[in-house]
Amino acid sequence: MLISTKGGQAWLIIFRANMKKEKYLVTSALPYANGDLHIGHLAGAYLPADIFVRFQKLLGNDVIYICGTDEHGTPISIKADQKKVPPRKIVDKYHRRIKSVFEGLNFCFDNFSGTARPVHYKISQQFFTNLLKNEYITTHTNKQLYCPNCKRFLPDRYVEGECPFCHSKEARGDQCDACGKLIDAIQLINPVCITCGHNPIIKETTNWFLNLPKFSDKLEKWIESKTEWKDNVKKFILGWLKSGLKERAITRDLDWGVPVPLENAKGKVIYVWFEAPIGYISSTIEWAEKIGKPEKWKDYWFDKNTKLIHFIGKDNIPFHTIIWPAVLMGQDEDYILPYLL
Ligand code: 2FM
Ligand code: ZN
Repeated sequence: MLISTKGGQAWLIIFRANMKKEKYLVTSALPYANGDLHIGHLAGAYLPADIFVRFQKLLGNDVIYICGTDEHGTPISIKADQKKVPPRKIVDKYHRRIKSVFEGLNFCFDNFSGTARPVHYKISQQFFTNLLKNEYITTHTNKQLYCPNCKRFLPDRYVEGECPFCHSKEARGDQCDACGKLIDAIQLINPVCITCGHNPIIKETTNWFLNLPKFSDKLEKWIESKTEWKDNVKKFILGWLKSGLKERAITRDLDWGVPVPLENAKGKVIYVWFEAPIGYISSTIEWAEKIGKPEKWKDYWFDKNTKLIHFIGKDNIPFHTIIWPAVLMGQDEDYILPYLL
């Protein structure tokens, strides 16, 4: 490759003949199917990815660009509750709207799927079952926040309160946006049910947990080796690892989501942040099926030469650098891990 400047303009002259083709699997964060996109979304995780993908395609590299809508999780159930309609109705509506915005702007996705499809349910359940078989999943009966007025447990975004770490008053039950830390809803100070405004009580429930401490050493070695990552991202994540990972609940007492594939788990679904990144894989599977080469997705996900690049927002970093790689590491097959984000 040669860059020359002439009359103030830079010209990029590309010689492809002897250059080895690079292989990229590019993803953009799956937008929640509970609202319209805004400029912030586009400028963050989508436009830069689209530019990168077009450039790689121009260079003749082997690149696919995968996305879809994130169709589970409490933001969607909450919206459905507010509108008094089934969650699938919300999801279908916003999937269509989001997809048509991307089409109108000519984004070059190779596939744009959604996580409430059978292919996604199947592979997410397989991922869960594999981790269980490989002894990376435990069960715990724990105290959880329960709203006596709404008569349900309050996972994640169903509850808000004060962050136990930075004391921001607007922390959610899963994460505090002010300090970026992941939170267990029960740690919130002065929790409030966002549906009805009542203070929740504490009640026991059994859930399944990802044994993150079992992945600590492997994660640490892997992150240390990531010379391509920004220093601040690496420092943040390594600091977190060094302070000790905790087991993390990966099931929820909800009725909208991927059902936990076990007999004794009625009324429980897989936590959205466990299964949403698996959407990158299910969308790739859907793409392979659409092009009539159903095995082709494996050429990307199981090839050590594939560079997996996730374009994500800042608040998605902990999930993509700890939980998602751990979920991949705990599988029987050798999935590639994120190369860059
Ligand atoms: O923060 C969000 O908007 C999430 N829906 C992003 C998910 S990215 C991936 F994990 F699917
Ligand atoms: Zn309530």
